[in-house]
Amino acid sequence: MTEFRSVAVVGTGAIGSAVARRLLTGGHDVVVWNRTPARTAGLVESGAVPARTVTEAVATTELVLLTVTDQEAARQCLDQLDGGLAGRTVVTMCTGTPEEARRSSAEVARLGGHYLDAGIQAGPDAIGTEAATILYSGDRTAYERHSETLRLLAHPGSSGPRPTRQPSGTLRVSPRWSGETTTGRLPPGAGPSIRVRRIRDSNS
Ligand SMILES: NC(=O)c1ccc[n+]([C@@H]2O[C@H](COP(=O)([O-])OP(=O)(O)OC[C@H]3O[C@@H](n4cnc5c(N)ncnc54)[C@H](OP(=O)(O)O)[C@@H]3O)[C@@H](O)[C@H]2O)c1
Repeated sequence: MTEFRSVAVVGTGAIGSAVARRLLTGGHDVVVWNRTPARTAGLVESGAVPARTVTEAVATTELVLLTVTDQEAARQCLDQLDGGLAGRTVVTMCTGTPEEARRSSAEVARLGGHYLDAGIQAGPDAIGTEAATILYSGDRTAYERHSETLRLLAHPGSSGPRPTRQPSGTLRVSPRWSGETTTGRLPPGAGPSIRVRRIRDSNS
């Protein structure tokens, strides 16, 4: 499988910085953009290349990770692009509803790119460790094209071909691409209320 060595990380907050650092140590060329440019300084010292605009960040990369606050922020980043996503895969690694993920998916398609939605089941410190899981949904071919890179970040899981990830607060654990998910419930007092339910993707 072809390996793609250059990745854009758009949004260098806690998760974006952890993702960028893991990609750098994994031998990737990493281009970083952040709304507040000063916050990329540490990553640039570690070898990342700063981009002045989102357009510049995606220009030389085939994989674009939107590690921003939520899907609304991700779309604000996409709004700064005027096409230019042909052949590229965009992954939203942020909180949002399934409807928001579908809107982002449609926007990425309009710009000519492929879309994945990622549900991060880990804090920044766990990124790149055995403790991290990230659930992907969306374009399976795009996922497979970049799976070697994405596997650097966490154990991958899938919630199926459609961007159907649940809002933050709901955990889904999917062992395979069929969309079959497992169920469970955390004990009382274990933190925020987390609903885990059985879902079969409508395309499976
Ligand atoms: N942290 C965790 O433990 C954790 C765990 C699992 C999942 N997540 C999810 O991962 C995502 C990122 O979390 P985080 O902890 O990295 O958040 P964070 O540290 O607050 O970083 C947020 C990032 O989004 C950028 N941003 C916000 N609004 C923007 C906009 N309108 N346009 C462009 N950039 C914008 C911020 O840029 P500025 O620097 O300019 O503000 C910053 O780079 C969230 O959806 C979160 O729910 C986080």
